[in-house]
Amino acid sequence: MTTNITETRDLIPRPVRESQSEMNEIVLPNDTNPLGALLGGRLMHWIDMAAAMAAHRHSHQYVVTASIDHLDFWTPAHVGDLVVLKSSVNRVFTTSMEVGVTVWVENYLADETRHVSSAYLTFVAVDTAGRHLKVAPVIPETEEEKRRYQDAGRRRELRGAERERRKANVR
Ligand SMILES: CC(C)(COP(=O)(O)OP(=O)(O)OC[C@H]1O[C@@H](n2cnc3c(N)ncnc32)[C@H](O)[C@@H]1OP(=O)(O)O)[C@@H](O)C(=O)NCCC(=O)NCCS
Repeated sequence: MTTNITETRDLIPRPVRESQSEMNEIVLPNDTNPLGALLGGRLMHWIDMAAAMAAHRHSHQYVVTASIDHLDFWTPAHVGDLVVLKSSVNRVFTTSMEVGVTVWVENYLADETRHVSSAYLTFVAVDTAGRHLKVAPVIPETEEEKRRYQDAGRRRELRGAERERRKANVR
């Protein structure tokens, strides 16, 4: 249940493009399993960081990760590969926002780029005392951004229903 929602100083709507962020990492031996493939947990950390950048850029607030949706790893990345993570805010609700992240791997020797993973994360804006803060609306401008905006609404409903079901199961 939402409590302690605080008004932020800056609730001016901002376009999606202002939140767009990119993070690049070279896969090093310490990031990999014994087969030289990138660890799923390391990639999840990078996804969280890349998504947080977009959430910060949009909200101009501290944020915490509320949830990460289902993650598929479609293709492995290996030592020496360049991992490119692109993120942007898909939609803002009240104190939360959905961020989308796509992950690509570039092998500069083979000159090929592969889609590794995509993820949706929800962040909640908070102040230093942990009170939830309202987030400025986001403005989708391109057709792709408008589609993601619509889809984010559908995903929020599914997430909420699933959360209620899980809560009921642990009582
Ligand atoms: C995430 C957190 C702030 C939610 O607080 P809460 O009081 O349980 O949640 P509320 O019911 O008040 O909901 C607040 C907002 O979060 C959203 N939310 C809450 N739980 C969520 C979840 N599991 N997934 C997606 N969104 C969620 C709600 O939909 C609501 O959004 P809205 O204001 O835009 O409508 C709180 O559970 C928390 O602090 N968790 C720990 C976060 C953390 O440590 N993350 C890892 C390190 S950054």
